[in-house]
Amino acid sequence: MGARSAQNNSRSPRARRAAPGVPEGSVKLKIAVLPGDGIGLEVTREAVRILRAVAEDRGYDFQFTERLIGGAAIKEAGTPLPGTTLETCLESDAVFLGAVGSPEFDALPPEKRPEAGLLGLRRALGGFANLRPAICYDAIVDSSPLRAEVVKGANVLFVRELLGGLYFGEPRGFVGANREAAYNTMRYSVEEIERVARIAFEAARSRSKKVTSVDKANVLETSQLWRQVVTVMARDFRDVQLEHMYVDACAMKLVTNPTSFDVVLTENLFGDILSDEAAVITGSLGMLASATIGGSVDLYEPVHGSAPDIAGKGIANPLGAIATAAMLLRHTAELQQEARDVEDAIRQVLDAGHRTADLMRGKAKYKANTSEIGSLVEQALADVMDRRRAYHAV
Ligand code: IPM
Ligand code: MN
Repeated sequence: MGARSAQNNSRSPRARRAAPGVPEGSVKLKIAVLPGDGIGLEVTREAVRILRAVAEDRGYDFQFTERLIGGAAIKEAGTPLPGTTLETCLESDAVFLGAVGSPEFDALPPEKRPEAGLLGLRRALGGFANLRPAICYDAIVDSSPLRAEVVKGANVLFVRELLGGLYFGEPRGFVGANREAAYNTMRYSVEEIERVARIAFEAARSRSKKVTSVDKANVLETSQLWRQVVTVMARDFRDVQLEHMYVDACAMKLVTNPTSFDVVLTENLFGDILSDEAAVITGSLGMLASATIGGSVDLYEPVHGSAPDIAGKGIANPLGAIATAAMLLRHTAELQQEARDVEDAIRQVLDAGHRTADLMRGKAKYKANTSEIGSLVEQALADVMDRRRAYHAV
């Protein structure tokens, strides 16, 4: 997709590729694996299984190093982002993160919570553009609580700004010894808006050529600046249609007319909220993948969160995590074909009627647990790759 070329403009690919004619085995990739908390552990295992299967089939050298983050790191090391974890991530080509967060740490102040580990990691890796595709697969249109005719064919790419806005703005804090008040700062510079907007326009170029820029320009100065900068940027992308939409209107339209969207460009907090909402289009939060690009190391994390209510039961949906692995293959490893193969394998498993519990709405299908889905995708992937080899051999 276009975001790939956007990334190319700013730096060279992270994967060390073989020169033409050199055997495939010389694709090398160091991947830091941070399962984190809750279902993060369960779904990450399946994503890594798929990455290993690709490496084995193609003769690539993928090295996985597992480290702690979030609540798991607080328990072991007393901090949500231990130095060893950060060091490993910074030395890697890509970081794959499961999820962070656990109710047992709810009483801690923001800077000590598991989430602080993730935010610190995002900042250290420097990726500012978080790509979150929300795709409604035909086979599971019935899994959405929305009517099938509303969601069918929906394919929205959120480009969420990830290092600015209220999440990181200073000053912030509580006021007074008794916390009579509290405040956060929403701040965006022209440069911060430009760099993420460019990624959105470039992504739109390789899709349906439309960008919806989301803001609250009727109230917020940051949004007025956002709208201005995006409008000027659009002059460099005359082939892409730009529309501006207030965030409240966008929230409604996403569930009433999701197929009217192509690329949705948003600031950090709006993107956090709207991307969870968009999960409704896909059938389940467990379907959402994400890639964060533009920094020194790419960060991959499915959107579902740690889901404490179902953690440890082995029933979580690993497809968002597996689709995230496909994004890693596409964006960091630049293995377009292999990324498509993994996505085809996901589609085949759904087409064959296999569903985790979260997708069991509508017509009765075959219910499967986390590792069963992982192994079905692995089998489908082997078939996809075998078939492709057979075509080439003819
Ligand atoms: C997400 C999550 C995170 C965020 C949390 C865990 C800090 O909700 O990736 O969407 O708010 O960005
Ligand atoms: Mn979120």
